Amino acid sequence: MAKPILVANWKNHPSSPEEAKKLLKELSKKRKLFKKTTLFIAPPFTYFESVSERITGFGRLAAQNISSLPPGNYTGQVTPDILKNFGVRLCILGHSERRGFGETSEHIAKKVKAALRSGIAPLVCIGEKERDAEGEHFEFLREQLKSSLAGLNAKAAAKTAIAYEPVWAIGKSAKDAINLTELSQTVIFIKKVLADLFGRKTAEAIAILYGGSVEPDNANELMRNSGIRGFLVGHASLDAKSFNAIAESLSKT
Ligand code: PGA
Repeated sequence: MAKPILVANWKNHPSSPEEAKKLLKELSKKRKLFKKTTLFIAPPFTYFESVSERITGFGRLAAQNISSLPPGNYTGQVTPDILKNFGVRLCILGHSERRGFGETSEHIAKKVKAALRSGIAPLVCIGEKERDAEGEHFEFLREQLKSSLAGLNAKAAAKTAIAYEPVWAIGKSAKDAINLTELSQTVIFIKKVLADLFGRKTAEAIAILYGGSVEPDNANELMRNSGIRGFLVGHASLDAKSFNAIAESLSKT
């Protein structure tokens, strides 16, 4: 069995290099625990060097975004070749906060291809804004998957991973997150859509993670038979005690 995947999405935190170093120091004390998972930390670009120096041996660097452009002169862009050369192996793409800035699934599909061309695995985020009794959100998820992965063949699709992050559950607390039944049903649905798009074998190869208020209080339950292979963690990844406890839950699955 492959190790569970744990991705820390630091977003635009912490607010100083000293705090980032302190957090990394706390995490490195639990390096043995993190070695039982495939750990990625996605910090703001400004902390890349500091993070990569301090997680050697138990974690890898991930990016929160990528440019879809080839190497060239683009002020303010960071192209995949630079990230790859820096050791980045995973990139979060299509996070709802970026979609909120106007990033569309078409932009995301371009970024997915650019990441793959550079040997960086795209972690493609999908998630409905709200759920409804008629299950309309499933259609929304199908459309997001289809358009964000547009243009990929099965071989390329097998190198991606999906993060299911219902927007209504992001940035809240464990009690407001999804429950196990809803998560299991959604994972089955996502696998079915992936199988329709790329075939069953490829669908099985694509790791599905869950994100949205993952905390020590719900990590254990959400991993249990839900079909997910790990978590994308926001606020709880900025607190060493909470993040260690989530890793502990994962390492026991
Ligand atoms: P959260 O964020 O864990 O704070 O809900 C998850 C995310 O936005 O990736």
